[in-house]
Amino acid sequence: MRTPLLSASLLAMALTTPFAQAHQAGDIILRAGAITVAPQEQSSAIWVGALNSDVAGTKASLNSDTQLGLNFAYMLTNHVGIELLAATPFSHDVGVKGMPGAFAGLNGQLGELKQLPPTLSLLYYPMDSGSAFQPYAGAGINYTWFFDDKLTSEAQNKGFSGLDMQDSWGLAAQLGMDYLLGDKLMLNGQVRYIDIDTSGSTSFGGQKVKVEVEVDPWVYMVGLGYTF
Ligand code: NI
Repeated sequence: MRTPLLSASLLAMALTTPFAQAHQAGDIILRAGAITVAPQEQSSAIWVGALNSDVAGTKASLNSDTQLGLNFAYMLTNHVGIELLAATPFSHDVGVKGMPGAFAGLNGQLGELKQLPPTLSLLYYPMDSGSAFQPYAGAGINYTWFFDDKLTSEAQNKGFSGLDMQDSWGLAAQLGMDYLLGDKLMLNGQVRYIDIDTSGSTSFGGQKVKVEVEVDPWVYMVGLGYTF
């Protein structure tokens, strides 16, 4: 819990600790905060088995979600760390857009899915010790696990059945900053780009429907960190 008194004492600590100890080899840093996955999705046209073709102008959409984000970092040297991103499961609505004419009734929310995007990164902190500002850059690899894919009951009533999104491996890049409030506690802000590509499939009237989606989200996190 953050009380005004606690905030004031954190601020006082920050102001009276001009030479906070920078990260050092062997440090374990745990960060926790609010993390938002904002898909910048680009989708292929939707392939409809009953027509045996793509339907021009159609696409799939995904919305954003915010969850509890966690970073577990270990400093290999004073400037280089390794970090695992974890979070509570994200939930996204999946939608269909652009269905023309007689198919227009199929537009709208199709279903919902959950995903976890664990990401392992190497971090580089360029600043020397003595700086309370510790910006960093990172690059790594992501595995995105899609699960609990399910259709809305409206979509099922329209004749859809089943929903499946394929898991994704991809690269991730990030920029972040720790602001050291003392030897142990820090404020953190970070933004990352994760390459997540998937294909989704469902069936309509017993025939397959599928779409390729580049989810490629921006991922934002703000929170507090603590050095052990
Ligand atoms: Ni991509």
